[in-house]
Amino acid sequence: MANTILRKRSLIPGTTSELVVDAPHIAAKARPGNFVILRVCPDGERIPLTIADADPTAGTITIVYLVLGKTTAHLETLGEGDGILDLCGPLGRATDIHKLPGEVICVGGGTGIAAMHHIAKGHHKAGNYVVGVIGARSRELLLFYDELKAICPEVLVSTNDGSFGRQGLVTELLQERLKNSPLVSEVVGVGPVPMMEAVAKVTKPFGVKTTVSLNSIMVDGIGMCGACRVSVGGKTKFACVDGPEFDGQLVDYRELSQRLGAFKPQEQRSYEEFKKSHVCKCTHS
Ligand code: NAD
Ligand code: FES
Repeated sequence: MANTILRKRSLIPGTTSELVVDAPHIAAKARPGNFVILRVCPDGERIPLTIADADPTAGTITIVYLVLGKTTAHLETLGEGDGILDLCGPLGRATDIHKLPGEVICVGGGTGIAAMHHIAKGHHKAGNYVVGVIGARSRELLLFYDELKAICPEVLVSTNDGSFGRQGLVTELLQERLKNSPLVSEVVGVGPVPMMEAVAKVTKPFGVKTTVSLNSIMVDGIGMCGACRVSVGGKTKFACVDGPEFDGQLVDYRELSQRLGAFKPQEQRSYEEFKKSHVCKCTHS
């Protein structure tokens, strides 16, 4: 079966899972920053998911998703041995990675930590000193801590409730690090839109190159439909082919948030209908 799920791991029971998928053609070409677009059923929508890891030797890619709506809930009903109907990738421009002086700070928030992991790994492979700065609402919602510890000489953690690491937001840790580091070459931020906007605000006075990975709505993922358009530096860009990574200081975050919320009522209705018609493993309802 194509795109078979070889391993499934529940990262946060009921909400977030990791799938290792047999996809040798994608794994052979996947680079940090790339994403896939998948479809779970023939009449289903297409959703983009960042590639959290790729193993070209094993021919596998790793994807992590938060159950947010109908499609991710449907994906959550699949198990090991099941196939994902369509899996298209790798898509998007790869992260610009090369040897840099000083340190590279990779900031991840919530589910974005998994997507950030592949970028941090790429910088580590390029010989960069990578500082992981990650934040979640609480300890049990913190993803990829051990995986980041394996590649980053330092991993700084914040939780909103103080159950692990420093109490507060991930951007507070970032600000402190920027104040105390003699040389930071780049800051990469992946997570919820308000977090990426806050990351750019914190880095601005330091004049550090800041890259954010945008999670726009996407349909085709190849620059034809315009669904993923974002404003960057006053120009219209397509996140799927011009991104998904952009200069964090130039992104119009307000417009991005508005566009992400444009179909919320329809998405909610579709999710409710799905929950009524499926015994959903994510909610046990
Ligand atoms: P969350 O809301 O629990 O936030 C995670 C952490 O981000 C917080 O603990 C905090 O430290 C930080 N944060 C959040 N808002 C902040 C703010 N205003 N200022 C400073 N720091 C802030 O995260 P979640 O619920 O796991 O997030 C899920 C969201 O992340 C979804 O909307 C999803 O689409 C998005 N996401 C984005 C990408 C991407 O490529 N950009 C990848 C995966 C997920
Ligand atoms: Fe269609 Fe980007 S998803 S143009």
